[in-house]
Amino acid sequence: MARFLALSGLLSLALSDSTTFDPLIYVDPLIGASNGGNVFPGASLPYGMAKAVADTNSGSNQGGFTLDGANVTGFSVMHDSGTGGSPSLGNFPLFPYTSCPGGDVNQCVFPKKSRAQFGAFGNDSVSAKPGAFGISLNSGIRADMTTTQHTALFKFTFPANGADGQLAQPLILQDLSDLADSRQDNATISVDGESGRITGNARFLPSFGSGNFVLYFCTDFAGADVLDNGIFANSRASTAVKDLKISRSINGYPLPGGAFVRFKSADDPILVRVATSFISVAQACSHAEVEIPDFDYDAVVAAATDAWRKKLSPIIVATEGVNQSLVTNFYSGIYRTMINPQNYTGENPLWSSSEPYFDSFYCLWDSFRSQIPFLTILDPSAVAQMIRSLIDTYVHQGWLPDCHMSLCKGYTQGGSNADNVLADAFVKGIKEGIDWDTGYEAVVKDAEVEPYDWSNEGRGGLDSWKALGYVPVQDFDYKGFGTMTRSISRTLEYSYNDFCISQMAERLGHTADVEKYTTSSGNWQNLYKADEPSAFWNGTDTGFVGFFEPRFLNKTWAYQNPLNCSNLDNFSVCSLQNTGRETFESSIWEYGFFVPHDQATLMTLYGGPSAFVRRLDYLHDQNITYIGNEPAFLTVFQYHYAGRPALSAKRAHFYIPAFFAPTPDGLPGNDDSGAMGSFLAFAMMGLFPNPGQDVYLVTPPFFESVNVTHPLTGKTASIRNVNFDPSYQNIYIQSATLDGADYRKNWVDHSFFTEGKELVLTLGRNESSWGTRVQDLPPSLGKYAGFNGTYSARAMRARAATKYSGDFSGGTLGSYKIGL
Ligand SMILES: *[C@@H]1O[C@H](CO)[C@@H](O)[C@H](O)[C@H]1NC(C)=O
Ligand SMILES: *[C@@H]1O[C@H](CO)[C@@H](O)[C@H](O)[C@H]1NC(C)=O
Ligand SMILES: *[C@@H]1O[C@H](CO)[C@@H](O)[C@H](O)[C@H]1NC(C)=O
Ligand SMILES: *[C@@H]1O[C@H](CO)[C@@H](O)[C@H](O)[C@H]1NC(C)=O
Ligand SMILES: *[C@@H]1O[C@H](CO)[C@@H](O)[C@H](O)[C@H]1NC(C)=O
Ligand SMILES: *[C@@H]1O[C@H](CO)[C@@H](O)[C@H](O)[C@H]1NC(C)=O
Ligand SMILES: *[C@@H]1O[C@H](CO)[C@@H](O)[C@H](O)[C@H]1NC(C)=O
Ligand SMILES: *[C@@H]1O[C@H](CO)[C@@H](O)[C@H](O)[C@H]1NC(C)=O
Ligand SMILES: *[C@@H]1O[C@H](CO)[C@@H](O)[C@H](O)[C@H]1NC(C)=O
Ligand SMILES: *[C@@H]1O[C@H](CO)[C@@H](O)[C@H](O)[C@H]1NC(C)=O
Ligand SMILES: *[C@@H]1O[C@H](CO)[C@@H](O)[C@H](O)[C@H]1NC(C)=O
Ligand SMILES: *[C@@H]1O[C@H](CO)[C@@H](O)[C@H](O)[C@H]1NC(C)=O
Repeated sequence: MARFLALSGLLSLALSDSTTFDPLIYVDPLIGASNGGNVFPGASLPYGMAKAVADTNSGSNQGGFTLDGANVTGFSVMHDSGTGGSPSLGNFPLFPYTSCPGGDVNQCVFPKKSRAQFGAFGNDSVSAKPGAFGISLNSGIRADMTTTQHTALFKFTFPANGADGQLAQPLILQDLSDLADSRQDNATISVDGESGRITGNARFLPSFGSGNFVLYFCTDFAGADVLDNGIFANSRASTAVKDLKISRSINGYPLPGGAFVRFKSADDPILVRVATSFISVAQACSHAEVEIPDFDYDAVVAAATDAWRKKLSPIIVATEGVNQSLVTNFYSGIYRTMINPQNYTGENPLWSSSEPYFDSFYCLWDSFRSQIPFLTILDPSAVAQMIRSLIDTYVHQGWLPDCHMSLCKGYTQGGSNADNVLADAFVKGIKEGIDWDTGYEAVVKDAEVEPYDWSNEGRGGLDSWKALGYVPVQDFDYKGFGTMTRSISRTLEYSYNDFCISQMAERLGHTADVEKYTTSSGNWQNLYKADEPSAFWNGTDTGFVGFFEPRFLNKTWAYQNPLNCSNLDNFSVCSLQNTGRETFESSIWEYGFFVPHDQATLMTLYGGPSAFVRRLDYLHDQNITYIGNEPAFLTVFQYHYAGRPALSAKRAHFYIPAFFAPTPDGLPGNDDSGAMGSFLAFAMMGLFPNPGQDVYLVTPPFFESVNVTHPLTGKTASIRNVNFDPSYQNIYIQSATLDGADYRKNWVDHSFFTEGKELVLTLGRNESSWGTRVQDLPPSLGKYAGFNGTYSARAMRARAATKYSGDFSGGTLGSYKIGL
């Protein structure tokens, strides 16, 4: 026994030794909780369905909680993170009172709008950590919360006396609302007279999509004896009535309605366990009972903390000498990549299937660029499950989603961007149970078949796209329907989607399709107007000529000012409104770089590498682009394609930390389900993906070293800066070695991570010739021209021609390799 004890002591010593680095101390979930970051800063497991936080009445409460002076209106258990659109979820909030004036439940304030006056709080009282969130209301009530997969556990600690000095007899209400007040007719709620268990359901609307969904819940209490309970409708309550069915009502808001439980004392904290389910009340109650059987708050926090530590620990950076706010930026960014999508496996009432079901793909237009690619490195098994879920959605609903939340189809923003997500995972060798043949069928359907409702999935304008090679402005489209705008950005995005399909075709051996989709991936050129100038609003010429422009069905040119919908344009309508422009949430200037697969040809059109660099500099230096929206991400690193990797490094430091402070108001825009977070993580790690391709563009990490242990192969990839300088004067790569051998390419592929390679970068104060030769450049479909030296066939097709040969139907990672 003694020996055993000594051994286990040793073991824990060894364990604690290897885990001395705790990434969680660098995670601040409150980053992005104000100033439009719309981040969910509450308690959640990685990809958890239960997400508990205090909800405020801020006009920017998409993520539930905000630190902007708004008051708390309730504590709810379902959220999305960082989204635009309407506030998402926030269903069935709780609200606590220490007592009701005069002991009369009718003197407590029930409706959400009016109870907000009791929801003021001090910013300093807020504590947020991975897996736990707490806040003290000015009423003296402390609320702490944590979660398991489907269940939230709240701990309310009450003052000894109510506001009117009378003894505490806490009342906790739960209502049938959501953040957006989208409840539909005939919600129901019941309270069990004995136990106080509250159950119910309601139908709600998704926040950026079509249709509706029903959510069920089950709430239990512990910690104090029940005094009485009942229901409320509008502002009146009764302890005699235990069941309520309530209509939406017509007058401006869903009528307030819910239930409450009152307790005999507040000597101990009152624990409230709330589980939800999209299936049934019984399933919600079962989640609650299985996941949190004994209301052990500290144990649930500990389990949630461990789950997060496990997810974040495979990536370790050297923190020495570096401004700690950068480390916080880095790990908090990574943390935010694992809030959405949410794992609703077992919670999908729409079809029955044994495949995983993930939701809150919100939206793939945002997350294909770096969020999901980031997870492909750190959590490939989760990505495999997400992709299986996307493919299963295709199988059962006919289309891959482009955006999805709360069981509903979300709105498409441009192309069919699930194609990019699938291709990215495919070319990086993600397999684990994915049926890639069906995945391929799904992306081909996006390219070939126009959905009746292409606002919700797939692509519109396919007849014109196929006949003309572009999406015309004022298209004639009688087959399917959607917002008839964005003809330029849709053309560019469809082109890239087709390229992504061509890569899958290549590796799956669909030879004819390779030719077909490679050809259509060049359609972007059909909207290039070589003589188009661009001037500022005051008439001053930018000096640049040659921009994408809209074209009519008859092939004549239409016109959009290349600066409209840029960061310099305060007036244009540029999102999904039916008065929107021909570019989505971005300008022709910026979309002018969105040819991720053929930078070589684009560069030639722009007048060669130097002209390309001048144009890219202008885009950034003149504030035409803005880093707060996703199309800007890749433009930071596109200098690599012009043989100027040093300028990508410089540009990364231009934006970080200036535009990304690790503070509540520190994000430049909506986090978009971790999109901003993943931009930070990749940029600071020194490897930025060209998403959809097996390419990471190399820049020096912001830390002396970064180690990433692959969760499946167990191998550790390492990037080390020699002459690292935390004041970031030395940010230019002079030379590099990969696994000890001289390495001059300015990019690496995904085997860097799976095989645990070592990249050593020697830095200096000035730009060097490293990574500048044509043979050093990342792959591009067309030929690079205008570079010194001879052209070496670095064409993507040659590379892609190495076909996959192996078993795609399951098994483990490893046998799939791309010839480089
Ligand atoms: C704190 O509270 C004030 C006033 O309620 C608010 O305006 C401010 O933006 C809050 N947030 C932070 C991070 O200070
Ligand atoms: C917040 O609560 C305070 C204190 O009751 C009240 O004065 C204020 O109007 C409330 N603000 C909002 C936005 O509800
Ligand atoms: C709601 O309930 C009312 C009254 O029972 C019933 O007439 C109505 O059809 C129900 N509406 C829906 C949408 O179920
Ligand atoms: C990364 O791994 C290398 C090799 O094991 C080690 O020398 C280095 O200290 C590690 N860096 C960090 C930041 O842990
Ligand atoms: C660390 O970075 C923060 C945010 O950019 C800055 O305010 C602070 O001054 C820096 N600290 C040091 C010691 O440079
Ligand atoms: C998602 O949930 C299912 C069912 O609980 C579980 O088996 C799976 O491991 C989860 N996936 C991830 C990535 O957490
Ligand atoms: C016009 O605006 C641009 C961009 O703001 C500026 O650089 C230029 O100096 C302005 N020209 C004149 C004549 O004001
Ligand atoms: C082409 O179509 C546009 C839009 O309908 C029209 O304004 C223009 O006159 C047409 N041009 C020719 C040459 O037919
Ligand atoms: C283009 O932007 C300018 C400057 O914001 C604005 O005045 C103009 O109305 C915009 N044009 C269109 C067609 O949106
Ligand atoms: C847009 O707004 C900014 C800041 O408010 C202002 O400086 C700029 O002149 C405005 N641009 C136009 C075209 O009005
Ligand atoms: C771009 O915006 C920044 C503030 O974000 C400002 O400091 C800079 O002067 C602007 N540059 C130009 C050319 O307007
Ligand atoms: C090519 O070489 C010339 C002369 O050495 C140099 O001036 C020019 O910048 C080089 N161009 C590129 C794209 O490297």
